[in-house]
Amino acid sequence: MTNQKVAVVTGSSSGIGYETALALARNGFRTFATMRNLDKAKTILDVAKKGKLLLHAVKLDVTDDKSVNDAIKTVKSDAGRIDVLVNNAGYGLMGGLEDLSMSEIKAQYETNVFGLIRVTQAVLPIMRAQKSGTIVNVSSIGGKAALPLMSPYIGTKFAVEGLSESIALDLEPSGIRVIIIEPGAIKTSFDTGAVVAKKTQDPSSPYYANMQKLQSSLGTILQNATPPSRVADVILGAVTSSSPSLRYTVGDDAALLAQKRRELPDSEFKKLVLEFFK
Ligand SMILES: NC(=O)c1ccc[n+]([C@@H]2O[C@H](COP(=O)([O-])OP(=O)(O)OC[C@H]3O[C@@H](n4cnc5c(N)ncnc54)[C@H](OP(=O)(O)O)[C@@H]3O)[C@@H](O)[C@H]2O)c1
Repeated sequence: MTNQKVAVVTGSSSGIGYETALALARNGFRTFATMRNLDKAKTILDVAKKGKLLLHAVKLDVTDDKSVNDAIKTVKSDAGRIDVLVNNAGYGLMGGLEDLSMSEIKAQYETNVFGLIRVTQAVLPIMRAQKSGTIVNVSSIGGKAALPLMSPYIGTKFAVEGLSESIALDLEPSGIRVIIIEPGAIKTSFDTGAVVAKKTQDPSSPYYANMQKLQSSLGTILQNATPPSRVADVILGAVTSSSPSLRYTVGDDAALLAQKRRELPDSEFKKLVLEFFK
């Protein structure tokens, strides 16, 4: 039995999850880098091997009860404990609300909200028995401030914020901490992984022109955005802090947006966002 801390990260195949799993492993956590498709594990496993890191790849699809329960059972039987859970898996759904099908919208909530709940429910009994643990929920600055043509995505991130704040209250007496991460634009494959409503891509859609503009500006914004390793560093700092904050924004854009959202009345904030995406 060692007293090495154990971390589980969802969505570790790329972007923020990939960098976070490596940052935790490099800083002494025995890390379970989970992903829904293990064919994508080669790169992270190669990096871990080169760096002599204690990092394992485990299959976990956050939308599948059995996959989640099997993965968490595997971690528990291999490592005996879970100190840190990073709920990172997620994707963006874009388009006008009326252009999206209910199945597209339900799939978005299934991953970004119910997926996070599913993994958290599987891990909580382990942390409760330990009387310790840290749950990190990767939200978005879009969980505090709405952006256009992403209403279901924004809805999922507002849900993650409220849920996280509420369970932070419930779990305080059990020694389990909850941390919310609110990245701004991060240079990952988030834009290429995003699902765009078919109808909004049709020139007859009332949202078509704005969607075209948004997609081209999002591509440019993400190219010049904060690297995902910066989010990983913030997560590492938060989980190793003796008194972490409830929430952390990542990136100057996120800090500025959060500040404007706090300071401006709704009508002024709406003008600012519309102007930015014009
Ligand atoms: N990039 C940004 O600007 C930004 C800003 C704010 C917040 N975020 C949030 O950051 C998180 C990570 O996104 P990212 O930017 O790093 O994008 P990314 O590179 O596209 O990574 C998304 C990860 O989520 C995984 N995933 C998707 N559905 C899953 C499922 N059902 N089960 C397990 N894993 C699943 C993907 O796996 P596959 O490889 O199998 O698709 C991938 O590993 C998301 O929650 C996103 O909302 C991103």
